[in-house]
Amino acid sequence: MKANLPEHQIARLLEAAREAQRRAYAPYSRFAVGAAVIDEQDRVHAGCNVENAAFPMGTCAETMAIGAMVAGGGHRVRALLVLGDGDRLVTPCGGCRQRLREFADADTPVAVANRDGVRAWFTLEALLPASFGPENLA
Ligand code: THU
Repeated sequence: MKANLPEHQIARLLEAAREAQRRAYAPYSRFAVGAAVIDEQDRVHAGCNVENAAFPMGTCAETMAIGAMVAGGGHRVRALLVLGDGDRLVTPCGGCRQRLREFADADTPVAVANRDGVRAWFTLEALLPASFGPENLA
């Protein structure tokens, strides 16, 4: 699937995620990840993974990017890109899919990239089908 996201928006996400990946704090896994989102005001927010000597306390790049959006006054994720090294797709973990679910729509595009650029596109619905969300509590 190719998202209907303009090339310049993809480029903005890639650049922000690359910069964040360079700042990742991943001394334990040595697997640096960067992520970026575009919010409803067309602003880009980035995050990187931040690990911890108490291993379960580490945080994923996507979660940090979503947190940066909220802290910056954003309310909705219009697109998310995650960037990690290697041939295998670095798709968001289950917890990050649910966190994205809070701020995105079923058709929100999720790009998975590596150093060569975007390698795959998903929708949130494809990553987290039949999900539980804010509407359940309305
Ligand atoms: N990681 C992310 O930040 N995002 C992903 O989508 C996959 C995994 C991080 C968590 C941990 O710091 C390292 O990558 C190895 O799992």
